[in-house]
Order: sequence, then structure tokens, then C-alpha cells
Amino acid sequence: MQRRSFLTQSLSLPFLSALPTLQAAAVTPPLVLGAAWYPEQWPESRWDEDLKLMEQAGLRMVRVAEFAWSTLEPHEGQFELDWLERAVEMAAKRNLVTVIGTPTAAPPAWMTQKYPDTLLTEADGRKAQHGNRAHFSFTSEKYREFCARIAGVMAKRFGGNQNVVGWQIDNEYGRTSNDDFTRAQFQEFLKKRYKTLNALNEHWTTAYWSEAYTDWSQIPLGPSGNPGLFLEWKHFISETFRTYQHVQVEAIRAHAPKRQFITSNYMGWYDSFDHYILAEELDLVSWDNYVGRGHLDALKNGIVHDLTRGLKRKNFWLIETQPGFVNWQEVNNALDKGEARAMAWHAVGHGADCISYWQWRSALNGQEQYHGTLVGADGTPVPMYDEAAQLGRDFAKVGGAVGGTEPVSEVAMLHSYDSRWAVNFQRHNRNFDPVALLGSYYRPLRRQAQQMDVIHPMAPLGGYKLVVAPALNVLTEPMAKHLEEYVRQGGHLVLGPRSGMKDEFNSLWPMRQPGPLADVLGARVEQWYALDEDVPVSGPWGQGKATLWAEQLKTRAQGVEVLMKYGASNGWLDDQPAVVSRVVGKGRITYIAAFLDDALMAKAAEWMLRLSGVKPALGPVPDVVEVCRRTGGGKDVFIVINHSKAAQKVVLPRAMRPLLAGGAAVSLLNLPPRGVEVLSV
Ligand code: GLA
Ligand code: GLA
Repeated sequence: MQRRSFLTQSLSLPFLSALPTLQAAAVTPPLVLGAAWYPEQWPESRWDEDLKLMEQAGLRMVRVAEFAWSTLEPHEGQFELDWLERAVEMAAKRNLVTVIGTPTAAPPAWMTQKYPDTLLTEADGRKAQHGNRAHFSFTSEKYREFCARIAGVMAKRFGGNQNVVGWQIDNEYGRTSNDDFTRAQFQEFLKKRYKTLNALNEHWTTAYWSEAYTDWSQIPLGPSGNPGLFLEWKHFISETFRTYQHVQVEAIRAHAPKRQFITSNYMGWYDSFDHYILAEELDLVSWDNYVGRGHLDALKNGIVHDLTRGLKRKNFWLIETQPGFVNWQEVNNALDKGEARAMAWHAVGHGADCISYWQWRSALNGQEQYHGTLVGADGTPVPMYDEAAQLGRDFAKVGGAVGGTEPVSEVAMLHSYDSRWAVNFQRHNRNFDPVALLGSYYRPLRRQAQQMDVIHPMAPLGGYKLVVAPALNVLTEPMAKHLEEYVRQGGHLVLGPRSGMKDEFNSLWPMRQPGPLADVLGARVEQWYALDEDVPVSGPWGQGKATLWAEQLKTRAQGVEVLMKYGASNGWLDDQPAVVSRVVGKGRITYIAAFLDDALMAKAAEWMLRLSGVKPALGPVPDVVEVCRRTGGGKDVFIVINHSKAAQKVVLPRAMRPLLAGGAAVSLLNLPPRGVEVLSV
């Protein structure tokens, strides 16, 4: 009750009624700084003070209303949106555009009490309880009705609002439900996909362990059991979240013009669902980037930005990031002074056009009291506020030069959820982490080439000189054709270990790895081995070791070069090929059959880049300095970031203008600790 009175108490303030006519629309700048703001948690008389502080720090966007369902619809069918409209108008007056989140990650108590079917069922069969979030069942039709209604009501009110520039659907979805209705939906999904039980039984080899189904209703819910069932369970989750999202996209689009984007905030490597499928319908992908414990590891974080950018092969928004520290780690240490700014520029370098802090100010109560913020519980700035303000000045200064540009790369890494799921389901060596394998390719390639895209295997490949596919475990016929075409047209395809083992049903190919590409490669995997001990590997790249995984290769055609070989180990691998390569058409295909150590991967990367004719985007820089290039619309800029606590010097290949420092062109760049410069070419 008290909270509602906060929202209404200042209704009588005379300036409020005049706001809409006085106010010209706020404008989205080319580089956006913003924060998550929850006006419903504060008295309305406080709002303008917050917005003024935001304006002073150069913030230009607020993200509001996600989680505010019990304020927006306090009782079933009773909507209260006036407060939100006043918040949007007050923000605009302070030069802030608004992104509205639909509140569907937080179903209100009246709903879950009256309609318990809207609640999620945990794996152990218990119903979720109120008092947390994302406790809805992703299949519940009743819940979707409520979602469509609230999203529609909001869009109707704000679709015409010039100060609302976009919509965020829900928040970080991914939790699945284990109820009977979900199981029935899964069976329906399978029926549509396989048409007949015979087809399903065949593709899943259900003769195994007497798993054959004679009725659709016999099929259990994933994730355990048969690999075919497991992969379809993941496909079902993806399809269910796609339709879950679609219900809201449709409800919003009915009232919201195209100038308002629709996004949803995703979570990097998180693999509950296939993000490529869900991103399709969004106008913009955004994600929540938290270092959590420790410090920014630029390569470890950079790959996730690139992965996110690759979902739509377009720039993205960093719609949440930590203002210093989080509250959900074992040790919630703060980033060093200057590190959050470097981290923000690092994101921009990888294609972010918005950096938005979560959150502006923590609620006085609620689960996240300890999380980092820009203002304290007392409503005045904490030290991190000044760093955000510096970023605000940065963006104001160079936004024009960076806006409209995007990272461009001649090197791509292929990533697919099917392959990750398939490997993770049966790792065979528990330490074989497909994400770690991707990282082992990414790090040396990104460092040496200073560019990298991470994309889906079916994405257009024509523009790339080099394409690497570590552990492309699920390799379908169309994918194999697409990749072969890329090679024949002059590309260099490098497959990593465990590639080409499975078909789209997670069934083993009845030919050896790399399955449908084995003939093109002119070689095949004789046997794979999970390693308990490292195995020596040597050849023109130098000496190193295979770790965790090694496959014995055999050449089967003319012109297949054996590049690297295993040394003495288990007898099976001794002196056998570990890397082979073959010229095919105008291009080349290479197979690396083992998880290689970092030093050897660095040599491998050198070889790949040299052979493919890829040059570094800028040129040699100290190891702790990162270079990102963004181009487009006749602009060409380098973002150069010192990720260390010591000053660094960077010799430039030619004189360039330092846009942040200002002044004349320089050919030597002096970067202070955690310093950043934006260079105009
Ligand atoms: C047991 C079972 C077999 C098979 C093997 C695998 O012995 O009886 O069916 O699963 O393990 O090692
Ligand atoms: C996630 C959520 C936010 C908040 C932050 C805290 O990203 O989307 O609502 O809980 O974590 O770090």
C-alpha cells in the first residue's frame, strides 16, 4: 500500500500535467550510456533527482519496468500505467530515452495463486514458489495469455511515445518446466518433426535397450536417456522459448512502430536454448555481461561479445553490465578503478552500441541489496559514478566518429548449439569443455589477427579468408555442402577435434569423422582417444602436446599433407598423423585431430593466418593491449585498450588522430594504466 502511495503522491505537482506538450522527443545518441532504473521502487518525488544525476553523468537511456508486473497490474485485469508514462516523460526531460521491459520474468502473486498452472515445475516434481523470479512455466498457455495481454496493454500505451525507443522482452529466459503438460507438448513437437513413430524409432535407434515406442504418449521428457531424445529436448526448449518470445513480439508489434526495436537480454554462453533461432525475430540482440569474480579477461570476454554479435551478424547492446561488482559470486570483488571503463570500451570495440549499467541504485530491500550501483542507498553518487560519468564524456566526444561503424573480420569461428549440446551430453573426458576448445582457437587467432567473427555454420562464408570449426560435432549434410563450397571457392576451412561425428539426430554417422566431409578431406579418423596423460605432438609448427583428446588420423587420398604427428604415447597414437591438410578446388581443408596446448595453438594460428593471407588489423602491440577495428559509413576507427595496470606504449604503423585525447595525429600512443584511445584512420 505504501509503495502505491509513493507513486501517486506527486500527481498534483503542477508541472507534470504540462510535460507532454513541453517536451520534444529525446534522441538516441550513436553510442548510448544507460542504466536499469526501477522507479516503482521509489517515491515519485525522488525520480527527478535520480534522472538529474543520470543526466549529469552523461547517461542517455533508462531501461524500466522489467519485473514491475505487480505495480503495472496489481490485480487481475486492473492496469496502472500512468506512473510509467510519467517516468518516461520525466526521463525525456532529462534527455534520456527509455527502453521498456515487459515484466514477464516476474509473475505476480495473485496470478500464481489463482492459476497454479502458470508456475514452473522443478525437475524433482515440486512446484516453484513465489518470492523469486522466472518461476513461470514456459509452456503454460494461461501464462502466455497473461504475457500477451500485459505486453499489448503496454505497447498500446507506449507504441506512439517518441521517447520510448525500444522494448525488452522478459529477462534472461531459459528455465524449463517438468510438468505433464510440457511432456505432452514435447510429444506433439516430436510428432510434427518425425511424422511417424517408425521414423523416430529409426533415427533414435530405439531397438537399443528396448526403447522402441508404439505410442507418442510413451515418450519421456528430456534431458536424460537416449542422445536423440536429448537433442530433440533441447530443440523443443528452443522452439518453446521461440514461441514464448513470439507471443510478446506479436503483442508489441501490433502497436509499436518499427522505429521502436524489440530485443531480449541474453546471457553469453548460456545454452538452455538455441540463440540463433530466438534472435531471428528480434531487431537487436542484447546481452548481460558480468565478470563476476576476479577481473576482466579480455579474450575470454571478447569471444562472448563476438558470439553475441554473430547471432544476427549485427552490432548489439550491452544492456546490463556491472558497475564495479556483483552480489552473486563467492567473492564479489570490485573491478579496479578504470577497469569498468576499459571493459565498456572493450565491448564497444567488439560491436556494442550501448553500455547500460545494472543497476542505477539498489532497492532498499529485495535479493540484490549488495550489488554494485552508481548511487548509494542514500541516493548520492558512489565512487563508480565518476567513472560512468567519464564514459559519458567519452561517448559524447567520440560517439559521432564511432557510431554507424561495426567490427569487420576476415576470420570466422563456427559455433553451433547442437555441437556443444552433443559433446556436453557425452564428454567422454569430463574435462573436455567445448567452450574451452573454442577459446583455445579464439585466443591466438584474435590476438594475432586483431579481428574475429563467431558465427553459425550456415552463415554466409564468402567474405572470410579463414574459417575454423573446433568440435563441429553435429555436421549435417547441408552444412557439409556449405563448407565444401566455401573450400572449393577458395576458403581455408580448419576443422578441430570431434568434428563431423554426428548427424542432426545426434546419431553417429555411419562413416568415420569428419563424416560427410571425410572424402573432401581425403583422410579420416581411425579412432578417438580420451587422454589421461598428455601426448607429444610435433611437426612444422614445432613441438607441443595434445591434451584431453586425440584422434588418430589416416590419409586416404593423393595430395593430403601430414603436418603434425603424435610422439610416443599409448602405442595406438605413436607416430600417427595429428594434423592433415589438403588443397581442394581453389581452397584448402585442414583437420586438427587433438586438443592442443596454448603454445602450439599459437603456432597453429600463425600458420593458418599466414597461409590464408590474413594480416593483423593494426600491427604489433604489447600483449596486454587490445586492438579493435570498427568500420562503416566511410569511417574507420581503431579502439586501443590497455588492459593492464601499467602504462603502455604502442607504435602505430602511421600517424592517426587520437579522438579521446584530442589534438594532432600521433604515431606513438602512450596509454596510461587501463587507458583507452580511439584512433581515426
Ligand atoms: C555393463 C552392461 C553392458 C554395457 C557395459 C558397458 O556391463 O551390462 O550392457 O552397458 O556395461 O561397459
Ligand atoms: C542479471 C539480471 C539482473 C540482475 C543482474 C545482477 O543479469 O538480468 O536483473 O539480477 O543479473 O547481476
